[in-house]
Amino acid sequence: SSGVSRSADGALRVGGHDLRTVAAEHGTPAYVLDEPDLRARARGYAQAFGSAFADLAGADVYYAGKAFLSVAVARWVHEEGLRIDTSTGGELAVALRAGVPGAHLGLHGNNKSASEVRTALEAGVGRIVVDSLAEVELVASVAAETGLRAPVMLRVTTGVHAGGHEFIATAHEDQKFGLSLASGAAREAVDAVLAAPALELVGLHSHIGSQILDLGGFEVAARALLRLRAEVAATTGVLVPEVDLGGGYGVAYTGTEGTPPTAPQVAAALADVVARACADLGTPAPRISVEPGRSIVGPTTLTLYTVGTVKPVELDGGGQRLYVSVDGGMSDNLRPALYGATYTAALASRRSAARPVTARVVGKHCESGDIVVHDVALPADVRAGDLLAVPVTGAYGRSMASNYNLVPRPPVLAVGPAGVRAIVRGETVADLLALDLG
Ligand code: LLP
Repeated sequence: SSGVSRSADGALRVGGHDLRTVAAEHGTPAYVLDEPDLRARARGYAQAFGSAFADLAGADVYYAGKAFLSVAVARWVHEEGLRIDTSTGGELAVALRAGVPGAHLGLHGNNKSASEVRTALEAGVGRIVVDSLAEVELVASVAAETGLRAPVMLRVTTGVHAGGHEFIATAHEDQKFGLSLASGAAREAVDAVLAAPALELVGLHSHIGSQILDLGGFEVAARALLRLRAEVAATTGVLVPEVDLGGGYGVAYTGTEGTPPTAPQVAAALADVVARACADLGTPAPRISVEPGRSIVGPTTLTLYTVGTVKPVELDGGGQRLYVSVDGGMSDNLRPALYGATYTAALASRRSAARPVTARVVGKHCESGDIVVHDVALPADVRAGDLLAVPVTGAYGRSMASNYNLVPRPPVLAVGPAGVRAIVRGETVADLLALDLG
């Protein structure tokens, strides 16, 4: 994050706070989140979209809470001008506890329960993003039951395949999300929503994938949505007011993956696409919304670990690799094991003049795929007791953490103007035992 620096004696600091002190006071592993950096990124998106779309019909940025949500984070991004996209009753509850007005929340999901839909309606959410024809029925019936009119957005599968890994690409045909444009399901859902008195069609939605570095896919998806909107207007007279282009903007994990687009670049590119597509179609521009998660929270956080066992291993083709075990692993960062995701690591407790050697940072879990950093150069004298920092773990780190091997999940420590504070407490073995009913 932007607040990382080194002290005179070589220790890493976040927001001026020495990570040795943070580790001594809060223990490791810990996620260390730079609050001013998070606020700046959130504000950056709000401002970039506000200005890029000022001459069109305006834009809203929804922070995708699945990347990481806690009450403090929800409050901060809300204070900086973002809305929040939730995808479960749990995320919705956190955003509501933070005091975010329902009108600034959306509810996603491909398999919402009736109770999640009811909670959302009662909270007055601004949009429920409907993912299937069956869900049109579900939302209509819950709306009728509660006597509340449901604002519905329809998630459309546009056929675009984008993003870093098959598991996170979401708009090609053969996957579980959305209403297919090609099969006619999307249009059928539009007509069903327009015909249901308890439903109000507030928008069309597309999310094409995640960790996207090339913005080209957004043009294809946006054009497909805007064409559907124009067709609906021509045949029914209803001009759908809003189009959501999803999230998915990539970040730099190691610096070798290409340059991620900045918020102003994303906003300008999308505004240009929307303006040109609407001009071609001869329809007025809709209000636009987007749902970035990773690009707002990912770079704000590093994971702080303590080194334990260090083991040199001889490689088949000659040479050596140093296996550096840390006190966490796939339970606090599943991404390397699940997606082959790449990270880097740096010695955080001291400076070392030792020569760099080929190293692999591994966790403490009982499988060999428990890798934190696949390949990194670390000083040859890295040893037990050293602190290691793994940057850019703010997105899909804590939010996908598990208790594998009954390892308690680490705290999230926010570093801000008021000092260092746990915004999510670390679990203890006592917490895990409390769940076990014997
Ligand atoms: N909107 C929708 C409908 C989504 O499904 C997602 C992510 C987002 C927005 C936010 O995407 P972002 O800006 O964060 O890329 N666990 C995976 C990522 C899964 C993304 C799921 N949907 C990972 O760790 O890479």
